[in-house]
Amino acid sequence: MKKITILGSINVDVILKIARLPKPGETMKMKSLATAGGGKGANQAIAAVRSGAATTFIGKVGNDGYGKKMLTLLKKDSIDTTNVVVKKDGQTGQAYILLQDSGQNSIIINGGTNLEITAADVINAQDSIKNADFIIAQFEVKLERIMEAFSIAHKNKVTTILNPAPAQSVADDLLKITDLIIPNEIEAQMLTGIKITDKDTAAAAAKILREKGTRNVIITLGSKGAYYLTEDDEGLIPALKVKAIDTTAAGDTFIGALCSQLENNLANIKEAIEYATKASAITVQTLGAISSIPTRKQINN
Ligand code: RIB
Ligand code: NA
Repeated sequence: MKKITILGSINVDVILKIARLPKPGETMKMKSLATAGGGKGANQAIAAVRSGAATTFIGKVGNDGYGKKMLTLLKKDSIDTTNVVVKKDGQTGQAYILLQDSGQNSIIINGGTNLEITAADVINAQDSIKNADFIIAQFEVKLERIMEAFSIAHKNKVTTILNPAPAQSVADDLLKITDLIIPNEIEAQMLTGIKITDKDTAAAAAKILREKGTRNVIITLGSKGAYYLTEDDEGLIPALKVKAIDTTAAGDTFIGALCSQLENNLANIKEAIEYATKASAITVQTLGAISSIPTRKQINN
């Protein structure tokens, strides 16, 4: 069984279904309102655990209603939350998701306690990093914390996986201690300056990321699939054609599911991407993040 530790965000997603985005100064009605568990870190953890990985979380919530709700959700899926700190008077992270008729979504985030994870919190959780096969992090927590956690992992030969989302530039220091980076097209463009439209441009961006110090790269290309470059292999795995209801957490599902199957030396990366591609195709067919993430049984079906 794979042991995965995730340093990341926990959000409650408030989903506003709307016909289209309002214009400046316009007031309009929403079609419906729903809340669901989310946050890139939590979504990836759920995807990993539902595919059979032993999953530990490093994060922070407030002692508000949202924090309680999210801790309950994570525990229900048997995620180890020993290292999820509950902050007195803290405000749990929130994401306001404007889900439009076009299927597109625009997201506004209030980082809350996700941005209040301290260096001491990471140190307190260091055993869960040292004992893992993989540590995964995303950009909804402070970059300093990722740097600290990846340094511990790197010293202990634990494979580090970075999902640089939402898009933000990053120092090469972090890329040098990242074993596998998984950006989407926009994030990859942010990191390399290359506009990605197809396999060739993805390959060019992946090469630059490797020159910056990350030896293995997967660039997710939405409906075009996923491009991967490792020490001795490269390729494009096509996406599956499905009708998307809500694409929220598709990328997170891909990452969590992928890592649950990946061998430590990444030798089976192609098969793991194929599995992750199936997983995210299921996620987009249901509303909400955590509520739409499939189990291994559903994926292999
Ligand atoms: O990647 C999707 C997630 O991004 C949502 O669940 C929302 O919480 C935002 O963090
Ligand atoms: Na979904």
